[in-house]
Amino acid sequence: MRVIITKDYDAMSRRAAGFVRELIERKPDAVIGFATGSTPIGLYRELIRMHREEGLDFSKIVTFNLDEYIGLPKDHPESYHTFMWENLFKHINVNPSNVHIPDGTVPDVEAYCEWYEERIKKFGGIDLQILGIGRDGHIGFNEPGSSLGSRTRIKTLAKETLEDNARFFGGDINKVPKQAITMGVGTIMEAKVLLLLASGKKKAEAVKKTVEGPITAMVPASIMQLHPKAILILDQEAASLLEREYEYDSTV
Ligand code: GLP
Repeated sequence: MRVIITKDYDAMSRRAAGFVRELIERKPDAVIGFATGSTPIGLYRELIRMHREEGLDFSKIVTFNLDEYIGLPKDHPESYHTFMWENLFKHINVNPSNVHIPDGTVPDVEAYCEWYEERIKKFGGIDLQILGIGRDGHIGFNEPGSSLGSRTRIKTLAKETLEDNARFFGGDINKVPKQAITMGVGTIMEAKVLLLLASGKKKAEAVKKTVEGPITAMVPASIMQLHPKAILILDQEAASLLEREYEYDSTV
């Protein structure tokens, strides 16, 4: 794993945007996996800036999002559809027909998940998958105990995740949907490059287990140790419990 430690959230976001930019410049029709959560918002802001000020062209990219809550209509303010359009897609020149975000309202979830997997394959697989990490080490919504070979499917959310996400639902844990559609750990691992971002002290424990702990389904992100091109971009706080020395971002 390549571990890049940056000074702070902004430096982490800029460094991550550099990887996305490099990919799009090299491959304008790149397939990019996007993530939600507060962590990638700075990265998305930087991509919007690159589009507006430097003409970074998103018109040919194809996107696949990791996950979506079950039961939330697309236009719900806390759906991941709304999140992606508000925080990124509506500000760049992405082609809406190239955007894929799981639909949490479909009647036949199983058939839909199979379709989602096939769709990823149809576009030749994901070139770069952006990831955040949950406090419990989840990626996408693959909670501890998820099969490390899992595919896109429905998952029940862990208590920590419900607690963490309650802030988006008026602080009421009972309003957080209990289930989600998520790409599986196996699906994520097939992306050619993984780019995981983590910021802040509350992620430090999960980051330590991911990078220096054993590979275990109890910390789904730890499977990244087996990926040939996994990059972690951390800020100093998220990296604070790491014991070994890692590449330090000298550009900040
Ligand atoms: C959510 C998402 C994940 C995200 C994680 C961390 O539950 N499903 O994709 O990485 O939680 O979110 P945050 O970046 O807000 O800490």
